[in-house]
Amino acid sequence: MINRRQFLKVTGAGAAGLLTGGITSFVDTSGAAASSKPTENFNPDLDIALKATPAEVPILPGDPTRVWRYQGQVIKGDPAGLINLERSYLGPIIRTHTGQKVRIRFTNDIADETIVHWHGLHVPADMDGHPRLVIPRGETYVYEFEVRNRAGTYWYHPHPHGMTGPQVYGGLAGLFLVSDDEEQAAGLPAGEYDIPLVIQDRAFDNRNQLIYLSGHRMEQMNGFLGDWILINGQPDFILPVATRPYRLRILNGSNSRIYRLAWQDGNPLTVIGTDGGLLETPVERGYVMLGPAERLELWVDFSRYPVGSETALISLPFDGGMLGGGRMGRGMMRSGAALPNGAGFPVLRVKVNRREKGGQILPQRLSTIKRYRTAEAVNPRYPKTFQLLMRHMSWSINGRTFQMDAVARDERVKMNSMEVWEFINEGGGGMGMMGGMNMPHPIHLHGKQFQVLERRGVMHEGYVDEGWKDTVLLMPGERIRILVKFGDYPGLFLYHCHNLEHEDMGMMRNYLIEGAPAVA
Ligand code: C2O
Ligand code: CU
Ligand code: CU
Repeated sequence: MINRRQFLKVTGAGAAGLLTGGITSFVDTSGAAASSKPTENFNPDLDIALKATPAEVPILPGDPTRVWRYQGQVIKGDPAGLINLERSYLGPIIRTHTGQKVRIRFTNDIADETIVHWHGLHVPADMDGHPRLVIPRGETYVYEFEVRNRAGTYWYHPHPHGMTGPQVYGGLAGLFLVSDDEEQAAGLPAGEYDIPLVIQDRAFDNRNQLIYLSGHRMEQMNGFLGDWILINGQPDFILPVATRPYRLRILNGSNSRIYRLAWQDGNPLTVIGTDGGLLETPVERGYVMLGPAERLELWVDFSRYPVGSETALISLPFDGGMLGGGRMGRGMMRSGAALPNGAGFPVLRVKVNRREKGGQILPQRLSTIKRYRTAEAVNPRYPKTFQLLMRHMSWSINGRTFQMDAVARDERVKMNSMEVWEFINEGGGGMGMMGGMNMPHPIHLHGKQFQVLERRGVMHEGYVDEGWKDTVLLMPGERIRILVKFGDYPGLFLYHCHNLEHEDMGMMRNYLIEGAPAVA
């Protein structure tokens, strides 16, 4: 047996080596024992049981649909810490406050291995749901962490390697909402006027069962697309509202579909928050591009509509950058062909059904965001570059694909340090014929919220780069620079494309946060 610690692999003159000059080492993670028992001296404010389980739920008229779903139960703490969405296969909404300690006893009750990742939360490495931590059916993984994030709309979903796409698609996803004092003082619509909206696309067969990948490689290269748009797990979603302001929290929970969101009547969107919570001040956009895993918070005052009127949130058409222009697949890709990425369609209908005086006025000051400065980074003038490339009919980052324990030299960072990272989605890279191809990639970093320094290329006006982000969409031809400050939790974290079919084919890598440097 080779001890992984003795295993040092030098990449040859291959593409990976040329791009990165990289030495790949394999981190010894054998000591990452599964946390299967609660810790005695950890005193949670919220203690919940959560399980992933098979279920049959009504989605379309007629036969129920077989899904997987998260089911939860509060063991200790505020019962409002867990909210079940009505008529939805989605997991319960977990609601916490910054500073609270949370214990989640997660039990796997589905046939495949799985593990839960808390998307957007800053938690220790062994609480982050890395694929190496998967548990088989019947086992329990106990998460214990303090909520360190600011108020925001975060979420949770499975993260087993190669299986995240089918498991999320099958129904495993839920929101994780964090509140804090600053947010509560902002004067935003709350309670029934604070509405979660999870957008997902699905495809069904004629017996109402979910259809996933057909096995055609091109379909996986593009990412799976459904022709039904579900909101909170429901088709043909109608949102009944009163003539007053609302806060809408939108999550793109789709595997690969991108939305170009706009109001049907041409009113601009008033954006108040992004992945990592509230912006400093509201911004207006004619439309917003929302890639998989990104969140968007909107303020909308429906008093601008008369009672009895209707409007809609729509997705405007755009060039979805599908391989083969989305045409090649027609007829081969069952449902994707019906509704390619970039097709236009209604997302949800809004019915203004009652008069109500809403006291709130849009606050001009929402929160305080401390801007990072490039000068604080360890590499202000030499960003680490990550090329999003197709290689050997597979999507890769710098020509590399996921290996469970592998960390290349440029994937090591220091605890509490700040770095400039640049993601480049321009194809090419001397990869031959396939290298010239590119398509949209929503890039996500585990562990920390980051700030966007600059974006270059196509420049859609529909990005909201002002706030805290954990996922950024790169359309073909774009590059983006971010400033990320790695936190005080050492260990192995992930960065990857959140097109889940891309992620599952290996468009994902580890990065390692190293603690205090060992003194030689
Ligand atoms: Cu929602 Cu690793 O991601
Ligand atoms: Cu994540
Ligand atoms: Cu991708």
